[in-house]
Amino acid sequence: MPAPPEPPPAEAAPQTSGLALAGPDPARLPRHVAVIMDGNGRWAKARGLPRMAGHRAGTEALRRLIEGCVEFGVPMLTIYAFSTENWKRPAHEVRALLYLLQEVIDRQLDELDEAGVQIRHIGWLDGVPPHLQAAIGRAIERTAANERLTLCVAFNYGARAEIVRAVRAVLAEGPPPDEVDEAYLERHLETAGLPDPDLIVRTSGEMRLSNFLLWQAAYSEFYVTDVLWPDFDREALRGALVSYAARERRYGVVPGAEATRTRDATAAGGGAPSRGRGAPYR
Ligand code: FPP
Repeated sequence: MPAPPEPPPAEAAPQTSGLALAGPDPARLPRHVAVIMDGNGRWAKARGLPRMAGHRAGTEALRRLIEGCVEFGVPMLTIYAFSTENWKRPAHEVRALLYLLQEVIDRQLDELDEAGVQIRHIGWLDGVPPHLQAAIGRAIERTAANERLTLCVAFNYGARAEIVRAVRAVLAEGPPPDEVDEAYLERHLETAGLPDPDLIVRTSGEMRLSNFLLWQAAYSEFYVTDVLWPDFDREALRGALVSYAARERRYGVVPGAEATRTRDATAAGGGAPSRGRGAPYR
């Protein structure tokens, strides 16, 4: 993964002037954007089309999102492509979503590789058709050395399952309970080693996380837009980034005030917030 850009000093004033025409201020970009791509079905319904047409249009929006992140200089993007709960959709829709992911990989892998995109996956591949497992593996292997944008695909992913699996892995290691703190548990999450999302974008106006990155979202900024996913474009991404640039992130502290204590003495690691694996407060 590319080295994350140095964050601005905490006291830096939000710079929003002039952004209506330009890209977002590079000094205040999120280093990790996570996106809940919602509204494909409604987009299709509004056009009298089958839901599949919405998902297909969603793949074009995904292409624009990746291009936009590369253009604006966002170093990491996570997309919620298929949740553990999505298996409960009608079989033909599940098949269509699996097929679309395969198609995106088959058709766009060359382009993504040339653009310097490193593909990663969070979630589990059991239950996923072998040809798709192979395609995902191929994409990860081929792009492993790329550094421009890390694209983390949450596919067959669910945050509660992730936390349960992490707890099981910790229990299997059998450490003394006092040794289990936030950092210990994080090392057993699907996202081990990755920064927490700074910004979580959800389209289609719904205000919920839907079992996405529950642990990692502890201090993420949220941006919800009414735009349906297939209509999400560069402008919509720019809007989200500009909104983020104007936020003040406090992590529960009062900026500029002297801390009563800098870290908590409890083994649970409460008190000082987890900062996304070493990310400075901002
Ligand atoms: C939610 O829209 C979207 C999904 C469950 C899947 C997201 C998939 C894509 C953007 C297409 C690309 C596909 C892959 C696998 C890379 P919804 O169907 O819940 O929409 P609705 O809430 O309007 O019904």
